[in-house]
Amino acid sequence: MENKNQTDERLRFIRIGSTLAASAIFFPLSGNKVFGALNSNQNENSIPTVKLNNGIPMPMLGFGTNTLTGDIGERSVSEAISVGYRLIDTANIYGNEESVGAGIKKSGIKREELFVTSKLWVDNSGYEKAKKAYQTSLNKLGLEYLDLYLIHRTRGDVKGSWKAMEELYREGKIRAIGVSNFDSDQLSGLMAYAEIKPVINQIETHVFFQQNKLYDVLKEYEVQMESWSPFAASRNGIFNNPILADIGKKSNKSNAQVCLRWHYQRGVVTIPRSSKKAHMIENLDIFDFELTKKDMQTIAKLDLNITQFPEWE
Ligand SMILES: NC(=O)c1ccc[n+]([C@@H]2O[C@H](COP(=O)([O-])OP(=O)(O)OC[C@H]3O[C@@H](n4cnc5c(N)ncnc54)[C@H](OP(=O)(O)O)[C@@H]3O)[C@@H](O)[C@H]2O)c1
Repeated sequence: MENKNQTDERLRFIRIGSTLAASAIFFPLSGNKVFGALNSNQNENSIPTVKLNNGIPMPMLGFGTNTLTGDIGERSVSEAISVGYRLIDTANIYGNEESVGAGIKKSGIKREELFVTSKLWVDNSGYEKAKKAYQTSLNKLGLEYLDLYLIHRTRGDVKGSWKAMEELYREGKIRAIGVSNFDSDQLSGLMAYAEIKPVINQIETHVFFQQNKLYDVLKEYEVQMESWSPFAASRNGIFNNPILADIGKKSNKSNAQVCLRWHYQRGVVTIPRSSKKAHMIENLDIFDFELTKKDMQTIAKLDLNITQFPEWE
């Protein structure tokens, strides 16, 4: 049973959610560009946030949890929060929502200080199933709401899923809704019937797959680009790449830090995963140096313009 304070807090949240929902009903491009637009009132020691197209702030750097299941998942999430992460990315298909929820609980952090994302898997696509799947994710996480809920992949009844998510959003049960792995055509298809514009498209992007065309489209739509596998999940020798190492040497930064800084300077949200506390800390330490224009141009040349995960195509 919740006490009066908890009830008041929940109602306050729902009221705020409904106001935001009402203001985010889709209308075509406005002059108010939001992709990568950082909030100015940034505390020096905190992770910068970006204002999403429905007005809510989202950390530009978060923690990915794919493959972090069971005890490792719980420990990694609570450790990540303890070193400063506030954005946590999970998905129903990762099979770790319970562990992520346990890690959040263990961290002792207040719910409203976190930004939690989960995703609707293709088996649960469609209006009815999506509504149920959302509640299942909440139950597994042990949370009362999500900050962001994404359609994980474009397969299945995307239109029905989106309608369910719009309703949950309007009811104030999700703070923001978005998509993942949508190409330009799939995104404009969704825009044709969406009443609420997605805030995010979470896609594969890293130095070897820069997705420049989709980057421009998302900017135009004011849909924030979020990178999955910002390190290409260690593939293609990313951590030993001599070009990234040369760039990092000037500022005493690792290849991982150069990669995350590159995303950040492009205005792209990242969710690197690590099971090691030292790496978690290293990956947060990217806000005290800057890549020059020349560095950015050099990194642009690393683009192979092809997925590093052909098995998922
Ligand atoms: N929407 C989608 O379809 C989708 C698809 C894939 C992923 N995602 C999301 O994106 C997140 C990130 O992607 P990812 O998990 O595929 O991989 P990633 O973050 O690109 O790379 C993770 C790998 O990098 C290593 N690593 C992390 N920091 C390091 C550092 N500072 N130095 C050296 N190695 C380091 C990790 O090893 P250690 O554990 O040893 O540090 C791990 O092997 C996922 O966890 C998930 O939340 C979404």
